[in-house]
Amino acid sequence: MLTPLPTTGDTAWFVHDRFGMFIHWGLYALPARHEWVLSVEKIDPNAYAERYLPRFNPTQYDPRAWARSAREAGMKYVVLTTKHHEGFCLWDSAYTDYKATNTPYGKDLLTPFVEAFRAEGLKVGLYYSLLDWSHPDFTIDIYHPLRDHPQAARLNEGRSMTRYAEYMRNQVRELLTQYQPDILWCDFSYPEASYNGLPGKGRADWESERLYALIRKLSPKIMLNNRMDLSNVRADVYTPEQIQPTEWLRVDGEPAVWEACQTFSGSWGYHRDEESWKSPEQLIMMLINTVSIGGNLLMNVGPTPFGTFDPRALKALGVYRDWMERHHEAIYGCTQSQFPAPQDCRLTQKGNKVYVHIFAWPFKHLHLPNLGDLVEYARFLHDGSEVPITGSEWETRQMTIKPNTQLLFLPVKKPDVIVPVIELTLK
Ligand code: GLC
Repeated sequence: MLTPLPTTGDTAWFVHDRFGMFIHWGLYALPARHEWVLSVEKIDPNAYAERYLPRFNPTQYDPRAWARSAREAGMKYVVLTTKHHEGFCLWDSAYTDYKATNTPYGKDLLTPFVEAFRAEGLKVGLYYSLLDWSHPDFTIDIYHPLRDHPQAARLNEGRSMTRYAEYMRNQVRELLTQYQPDILWCDFSYPEASYNGLPGKGRADWESERLYALIRKLSPKIMLNNRMDLSNVRADVYTPEQIQPTEWLRVDGEPAVWEACQTFSGSWGYHRDEESWKSPEQLIMMLINTVSIGGNLLMNVGPTPFGTFDPRALKALGVYRDWMERHHEAIYGCTQSQFPAPQDCRLTQKGNKVYVHIFAWPFKHLHLPNLGDLVEYARFLHDGSEVPITGSEWETRQMTIKPNTQLLFLPVKKPDVIVPVIELTLK
């Protein structure tokens, strides 16, 4: 079985837990039309702050309810945007006024969040945006809302990325010392990008080496993702987003710890009018697909301006809850199987247990390649009932069975779960 190369951070719990919740929450919940609205619509950052800061008042914010839904959905960790690209901070940072305590809500949102999720037994990760479209020192570049300002180059003259990099180190220090997160999720670098003569940003702008040294000094074992554009440092976790890898992710030819991050509907922040919500089948299959090739899934919720999960998000979380309640054994502690998957199936494995996730229900017989004579017992995970490994000779005599194949004898009717799973105990 594949094992990723070891890295500095503690990834043992992470590759066991497999399933987490991403949360994107900030002022962008109010316009409710994508967390990049400031950039996409090229809004002046001051006008954006004037419009939304005095209107941010999530009176129904109850992080214990969020944490409960995450735990019930089978999620074992959470990653929250403490600051997204817009620059607004959810915690009471000493280094900015652009923060939750300066809204009508008036309170730090992060402390109760961290407490609530830890109380439900979840590990806590903090997302921190390297981009900051509202910071006066952050130079105007390809994604900045003022990129088409006729004076963009001149406006950049007074800005200093050196001062901004120090601001980031100060804020990251606050986050690591005040909240001791298990994961730090920095987002993102685009060194090769350019726009109308405005360059992109990467390690030279973020001063990534210094930031990295600070992170490791304060939290030697924290898990750090791969988006700081560090050279010569293997990240603890690689983070493809909005795509489903089809095989174990490799970095420099070696298998890596990886986590696909996905949305229920496309945008990360609360998006009122989006109609592209994934079906229950897609949600479950995404999780299985990911674990079957050695990855984690970080599934995103974008809370509303009131601080609630909207009904569509709760419904989607309910899909995970119902399936995970009965099938979590095929996810936690599991990884890519050493055996090839049967037709229309995915496999996950934990020691001598192999889990067959059946994506398309076949008629009566499932052929398991390379497992001939290795299976001691098979049962459904949803109800514990036996799945016979021997059956009618009259039927098998008529079939073409490849060498070294084990047959499973299935009921004609697909069990009433989104993806049925058969647990094989190997001899
Ligand atoms: C991207 C986007 C962003 C989102 C993130 C999640 O880089 O900028 O809005 O937070 O990916 O992976």
